[in-house]
Amino acid sequence: MRTMDWGLQNRLSRFIKPSTGHSVMLACDHGYFMGPTHKLEEPRRTIESLIGYSDALAVTRGVLRTSVDPNWDTPIILRVSGGTSILREDLSDEGITTSMQDALRLNVSAVALSVFVGASHEKETLLNLARLVDEGEKLGMPVMAITAVGKELEKRDIGCHVVKTYYCEDFSKVVQGCPVPLVVAGGPKLKTEADVFELAYNALREGAVGVDMGRNIWQNESPVAMIKAIRAIVHEDANAREALDSYNEYRRERANVAKPVQL
Ligand code: R5P
Repeated sequence: MRTMDWGLQNRLSRFIKPSTGHSVMLACDHGYFMGPTHKLEEPRRTIESLIGYSDALAVTRGVLRTSVDPNWDTPIILRVSGGTSILREDLSDEGITTSMQDALRLNVSAVALSVFVGASHEKETLLNLARLVDEGEKLGMPVMAITAVGKELEKRDIGCHVVKTYYCEDFSKVVQGCPVPLVVAGGPKLKTEADVFELAYNALREGAVGVDMGRNIWQNESPVAMIKAIRAIVHEDANAREALDSYNEYRRERANVAKPVQL
């Protein structure tokens, strides 16, 4: 068991809530490689309505400076890797785009970078990770590794403090083999709300400490209903069925509020 410095532990506990040991992170960092993304074209508008239900907000430096009110006290997870986009064939060709000094100046609670195991730039991205972890350990800054390595993560300590990955078959094995807290990303928008709640519920049941979810929340027609239902799974042990009930209940309430008063 690794011991962490007080500052690093303190930063982590800002967004992995000590009351439940879980976390609902809102991912809004897609623009750096996807460009204008449906329902994230104006990040401030997307973020504003959901920030109150988020334990952390994952963004790039540009979105942070332009679209996040510095008076909000939601912890920030700063995406610090990038340099390529979906217009290029190889997404793994990333470098570090934001320095640790900037991360400290922006008073963020963690930095995040992608690592691409098995891809052409595997080595560079793993070296980026190693460098960031060294700096993070010195400065008390948690590092979240965003990885799609799936089962390959088993039994491999990649040195970071939090891992974000995608749900996959035998997910519990991934969690068991991961020595640090692991959160699950949502991925592209799923067909139904029930599918999203199943994904979140299964990930939590199999050991994830939470979600770092974007599109399946803010591309939904009721983003607030969606994030509230996800919170119920993550923090209140709700199952997928109960989350769907919560989602529908919130929508019903809003519909009633919106109805014109009858004389
Ligand atoms: C991918 O690395 C992006 O950084 C997103 O943060 C991540 O995929 C989570 O968002 P979504 O739930 O939309 O997949």
